Amino acid sequence: MSPFQSLTLPNGAVVPNRIAKAAMEENMADAGHGPSDRLMRLYQAWADGGAGLILTGNVMVDRRAMTGPGGVVLEDASRLDDFRRWAKTARSGGAQVWMQLNHPGRQVQANLGQETVAPSAVALDLGPHSKLFAQPRPMTEAEIEALIARFAEAATLAEAAGFTGVQIHAAHGYLLSQFLSPLANRRTDRWGGALENRARLLVETVKAVRARVPPGFCVSVKLNSADFQRGGFDAADALGVVRMLDGLGVDLVELSGGSYEAPAMQGQARDGRTLAREAYFLDFARDIARVATMPVMVTGGVRRLAVVEQILADGVAMAGMATALAVRPDLPKAWRTGRQPAADLPPILWKNKTLASLAVMAVVKHQLERLARGRAPQPRVSPAWALLAGQVKTARAAKRYRRWMAGQVTANEPLRAAIVAV
Ligand SMILES: Cc1cc2nc3c(=O)[nH]c(=O)nc-3n(C[C@H](O)[C@H](O)[C@H](O)COP(=O)(O)O)c2cc1C
Repeated sequence: MSPFQSLTLPNGAVVPNRIAKAAMEENMADAGHGPSDRLMRLYQAWADGGAGLILTGNVMVDRRAMTGPGGVVLEDASRLDDFRRWAKTARSGGAQVWMQLNHPGRQVQANLGQETVAPSAVALDLGPHSKLFAQPRPMTEAEIEALIARFAEAATLAEAAGFTGVQIHAAHGYLLSQFLSPLANRRTDRWGGALENRARLLVETVKAVRARVPPGFCVSVKLNSADFQRGGFDAADALGVVRMLDGLGVDLVELSGGSYEAPAMQGQARDGRTLAREAYFLDFARDIARVATMPVMVTGGVRRLAVVEQILADGVAMAGMATALAVRPDLPKAWRTGRQPAADLPPILWKNKTLASLAVMAVVKHQLERLARGRAPQPRVSPAWALLAGQVKTARAAKRYRRWMAGQVTANEPLRAAIVAV
């Protein structure tokens, strides 16, 4: 099948081709944590680049829980016009544009200064770097219910802003993925234990979102094919979760893998092994696509047209790409016209896997920064320099975020006082 054949989703929406720009957190929000002009320029590049589906970088459903400073937050309609502009820009080339919604749970940097919540009081284990992340406390039942409502509200707002769908992020060790993991989720109530309980938060979130958006609006889930940790969420669990999603109105499941503890999405298992396939999760995706009633997409390691063709030949409906489209945002367009430019980054072979993983992110983010400033990507940037520059920027953004949060408290104080008085 040609990568340029359209795909009709279960809800009748059409994706013009089989190539997706996978979610990449941009960290380019403006001072009020809304979409910025830089973000518009970046998404114009992808809109012009020819991908059939554009997933935004993760948008936070709760300002207190950020995957990183400089992230976009969507909690209410106060910035809806800016979100409208974002959707319009990203859709200008005819792609489906879905907003990815996320809550990081325990994967929140300690320097953001927020109380951290998770399914259980299990902190991230990053060896000597563990202190970079806060010790979480378990969520209460009321907080879990409020979280589901936040996802549903953000999806409703995304629809109002003109996005054509949302993706619920349940992969990469963030909160929904923590609930799915037997290592991070030690709860003994209805939200923990058997897979059915660990998946309850995801299932209830999908149901709540579906109930609030029109049928033609797409709802997708990003799921780990496995966590790549001993005793963690495994391939059989992933298959079980996909079965639970059947019949809930999910239009596409994207399969990835790993977490901050085991960055399989970068092609690395916990033991440092490199995943064998060029499309890291294709074997899992093929097995899941055989039983799933909704289309499946696989993301991770895809850089070449031949790999996309292999993915489609294996019965997987779409191929997602992140890194390649940071290096060459016009890659789908190039492929369509018969060109096959290189779209990879030099590998970072540092011994310290945590630092290497951070450097990979920093080098990709450097490309996004350049695109957002209207410049050409620079794949040969020094990883050490990109990491250092990224750390400086992150520290500055973290300070700005802490100030913003402190300002929120002050700004809301009269309101709070009024509520208390009532
Ligand atoms: C800079 C950067 C930011 C990312 N941000 C997100 C994100 O917000 N949400 C998400 O689901 N995945 C995110 N990812 C993971 C990608 O979507 C993708 O799963 C991963 O990079 C593997 O695909 P690739 O080999 O094509 O890059 C990010 C990856 C990079 C490099």
